[in-house]
Amino acid sequence: MARVVGGIATSHVPAIGRAIARNLQADPYWKPFFDGFPPVHAWLDRVKPDVAVVIYNDHGLNFFLDKMPTFAVGAAPEYRNADEGWGIPTVPPFRGELDLSWHLIESLIADEFDITTCQEMLVDHAFTLPMALLWPGSGGWPVTTVPVCINTVQFPLPSAKRCWALGQAIGRAIASWDSDRRVVVIGTGGLSHQLDGQRAGFINKAFDQKFVASLVDDPTWATRFTIEQLVEQAGTQGIELLMWLATRGALQGAQPGAVRRVHSNYHVPISNTAAGLLVLESAV
Ligand code: DHB
Ligand code: FE
Repeated sequence: MARVVGGIATSHVPAIGRAIARNLQADPYWKPFFDGFPPVHAWLDRVKPDVAVVIYNDHGLNFFLDKMPTFAVGAAPEYRNADEGWGIPTVPPFRGELDLSWHLIESLIADEFDITTCQEMLVDHAFTLPMALLWPGSGGWPVTTVPVCINTVQFPLPSAKRCWALGQAIGRAIASWDSDRRVVVIGTGGLSHQLDGQRAGFINKAFDQKFVASLVDDPTWATRFTIEQLVEQAGTQGIELLMWLATRGALQGAQPGAVRRVHSNYHVPISNTAAGLLVLESAV
């Protein structure tokens, strides 16, 4: 059966795309952010994933406000990057892992998650930039992919509890995939940020740090909060932390000691965002 080699959670600010295109990794503004990634590259070299399940939120590119699935899974042979309006350079297409897509879809539906299946799907900065950060300079990509979208842009949003359960169901699905492939789960978004309204620019470092720590040893901590409470704590776009929760859910075990923190980074701000990075692997 397939194996989850670990989980990576990272922010996905569009400005990262421009920084990569302009080679600004050593620039004083960007260095503390990009310096977070070499340890992740070393870890990826060690665990050698074949497939990435990427849990992210679309920002109005593939799904617009007229049709907004709560949960959607890609089942396409290829996922192309399109510019959803930020003007950043696009990256090469991503190869889909069709067999896992359909296994995941069947397994999630059997698990009573009524997801939307997408046999065509464009991917935005929330998918492409984390991939470009994790595998820099790849003219192509060393992993095949399965995109999983969680709606965090149009209310009502799925609860933290539901996103945790979705992550757990994804973990079970991967573990029952009849394949010898090694799968990394990647969650993108957050941490605290708010792009609009009276609180634009809002960042909550204390909450971010509590949340990141909880993912290691008390991962259901965030499920006690309503979406409104999480928005209050993390900002209207900081609610993208739901992707981090689902990613942790896909890793084995909620009990203390079930996962080990391989690496983390936190830098405020990148654009409007508290930029976080966390790598976890199974400790059991
Ligand atoms: C920013 C952050 C995001 O998560 C996003 O999707 C768009 C912009 C920002 O901080 O600029
Ligand atoms: Fe975002």
